[in-house]
Amino acid sequence: MDCLDNYRWKLASHELVPLVIGGMGVDISTMELALEAARLGGVGHISDAMACLVSDRRFGTRYSLSKFKRFRHEGDRSSYRFDPGELRESQLRHVCEAMSRKVGPGLIFLNVMEKLTMLDAAETLKIRLTAALDGGIDGLTLSAGLHHKSLRQIEEHPRFREVKLGIVVSSLRALEIFLRAAQRSHRLPDYVVVEGPLAGGHLGFGEDWAQYRLESIVDEILAYLREHELPIAVIPAGGIFTGTDATGYLQAGAAAVQVATRFTVTRECGLPAAVKQAYFRASEEDVVVNSYSPTGYLMRMLTSSPCLDSGVEPKCRLHGYLLDRGGECAYVRAWESTPRGQSVSGKMCLCHHFSRHQCYTCGHYTYRLKDTSRPDGQGGYHLLSAEHVFRDYQHSREHKIHLPIDPGQ
Ligand SMILES: Cc1cc2nc3c(=O)[nH]c(=O)nc-3n(C[C@H](O)[C@H](O)[C@H](O)COP(=O)(O)O)c2cc1C
Repeated sequence: MDCLDNYRWKLASHELVPLVIGGMGVDISTMELALEAARLGGVGHISDAMACLVSDRRFGTRYSLSKFKRFRHEGDRSSYRFDPGELRESQLRHVCEAMSRKVGPGLIFLNVMEKLTMLDAAETLKIRLTAALDGGIDGLTLSAGLHHKSLRQIEEHPRFREVKLGIVVSSLRALEIFLRAAQRSHRLPDYVVVEGPLAGGHLGFGEDWAQYRLESIVDEILAYLREHELPIAVIPAGGIFTGTDATGYLQAGAAAVQVATRFTVTRECGLPAAVKQAYFRASEEDVVVNSYSPTGYLMRMLTSSPCLDSGVEPKCRLHGYLLDRGGECAYVRAWESTPRGQSVSGKMCLCHHFSRHQCYTCGHYTYRLKDTSRPDGQGGYHLLSAEHVFRDYQHSREHKIHLPIDPGQ
């Protein structure tokens, strides 16, 4: 019986275990998680969502506070701009720390979300990309957007041809748009993450998401790349819950798979312990897809997420990661049209709730997580090690999930 460990992802001079832990903002896919993936020979992601806040929490910097103080008495949201130097420092520090601690044959990539408009989408994205390259990141995974201008912003960088480059898409059409842009920079991506409708975080589908199947999108993209003789590795993602699920995609021609949900209940994952237990406890009915995110993308989350029906005042002076150039965001608009004291219907302040881990975004199969661990005897479940989950994907056969050793025995 075949298993994931029978395959390797050959990427330039690397021979990787074909398992990628996907980026999960805000610091849910921590560097500790990414470092484990790299140590074990796969690929881990850190995320650059809310880079200043992550730096403040990890390294004791005070970028968010200093931004807040700069605009404390300013009412015009379009002026709440990020300090370019601070943004660069925060990103650089995070990436340098991760890369300096990396051991083992695997790689660490950065998940870069285009949707973080940060009052000046082009400039702030360029700063984040450039700082990551300067910090020595192994790869850049462009996500949450079509990124048709992103390569242009770094094509002069000395590491542009050497860094591994990939994009997350949910359709062949999105990939084609990106490839046209990549042609202009004379730089093909090295990999494409094909994210299906069962993934966690934001979805690249509309309300009809349930009608799509990851297998079909992957087949279509594989056929397209073959027809056009494009040497781009295909990495399916979304709902790949067992090593056997993963192996099926490798047999079909994928180079690796990207997974996330199973790692949300590991000790290395950045979610608070109580939230990890909420993921374990979830039933199928608790996992929903809704339009609460002000980004305009649908998002999957647990119905127990505290962000739902909260009427919190927007925290744009402190954060403001989703403000457009005019200082607007869909949550701000919804909040302003809601009488004070009432919950804002149908939208959440993504910055505020993500910064506090109050939006329990998750993959469709979160309700199966309880089958991957043992009860702790106190109404919860034992957390897993990232190594345990990684090796389970790598070696398991026939959809078996190996439970951790019972600490009580
Ligand atoms: C908690 C959580 C947060 C996520 N956050 C992001 C994110 O910030 N950016 C992104 O591109 N994908 C994000 N994702 C998607 C994952 O990177 C990954 O592609 C997907 O969830 C894989 O499917 P699976 O969770 O069913 O294994 C997130 C997923 C989860 C579970």
